[in-house]
Amino acid sequence: MTTFAEITAVRDLLFERMETPETRSDVLRTPEMKKLFGAIKDQPAEQRAEFGQAVNQLRLEIEAKLSEYENQEETVKPIDVTAPWDVNAKAPSLLNTEQGTQHPLTRELENVINIFTRMGFEAIESRQLDDDFHMFGSLNFPENHPARDGYDTFRTEEGFIPPAHTSTMQNRILKDGIAKLEAGGNIAAISYGRVFRNEDLDATHEHTFYQCEGVFVSSDANLGEMLGTLRSFFESYYGQKLKIKTQPGYFPFVEPGLEFLIERPAALGGKPGEWLEMLGCGMIHPNVLKMAGIDPQKYRGFAWGGGIDRLVMLKYGIEDVRHFESGRLAFLRKFA
Ligand code: PHE
Repeated sequence: MTTFAEITAVRDLLFERMETPETRSDVLRTPEMKKLFGAIKDQPAEQRAEFGQAVNQLRLEIEAKLSEYENQEETVKPIDVTAPWDVNAKAPSLLNTEQGTQHPLTRELENVINIFTRMGFEAIESRQLDDDFHMFGSLNFPENHPARDGYDTFRTEEGFIPPAHTSTMQNRILKDGIAKLEAGGNIAAISYGRVFRNEDLDATHEHTFYQCEGVFVSSDANLGEMLGTLRSFFESYYGQKLKIKTQPGYFPFVEPGLEFLIERPAALGGKPGEWLEMLGCGMIHPNVLKMAGIDPQKYRGFAWGGGIDRLVMLKYGIEDVRHFESGRLAFLRKFA
């Protein structure tokens, strides 16, 4: 018969185990703890309730202690950046290098850049503060057009805009590429970086996220090339053959405008016929080319832009986009 004294003994044992990080996380699943829970039903009727409460009390105490440890782990002493290095290095509560991990978005963005670079695209980081011309004017959004509202843009008091998409880089990429076109070459560039939208937050909407944009211009660029490029990218990123399709989409800076979808692969939890919208794309609107000084009679281009976060969520089955900006170590360490 398991007794009250044994509860105390198990308590001492488990509290001791919790002192060591390696044996801490599963103390509640240890055989000793299971035995206590199992013993509740074997108690004589008159003391069963009291015994059950005592076991439960122990469970609560352990949980409280565990979360205390967890909070302790997450507090890191601020670094005095002005101090000589050895002062910081000696600080006992700093994380050692083995505990640090690269953020999953950083790592996956590197993957994305690598794939496009191998396909011949130049990679340019986007800006985190931009202006109305690059956000809207250069992209064929008429003044006061309702499509501007669709981007939920933040604006500083001075009128600057933290970009709501990486398309803000299109005009710069096009202008910079004119010399290449005139020399008989193509423009092939991606632009990647943080974007910001002032919208209601939920599992699929975050105020800060990452996008990657592609721009390709040549004398005869066409939609077939664009779809081939996107298919190659997605198949390379997910490491498998994919089914793709498009549907009409409206963006003032492309004509025709499309949404690009992939069928969620079975290996990533998908059922046949489950289509996911991955990005917006299309043939660059003649006005956008003109605005950058490129003659739309001579050159054509295609462009696409889509979220990195969504790409990574699908790859790893991450259910809530807000994890990325949360800074929670429990989430980040899964990507160590
Ligand atoms: N910038 C668009 C968005 O974020 C996506 C897009 C990029 C569409 C390039 C077409 C061409 O919604």
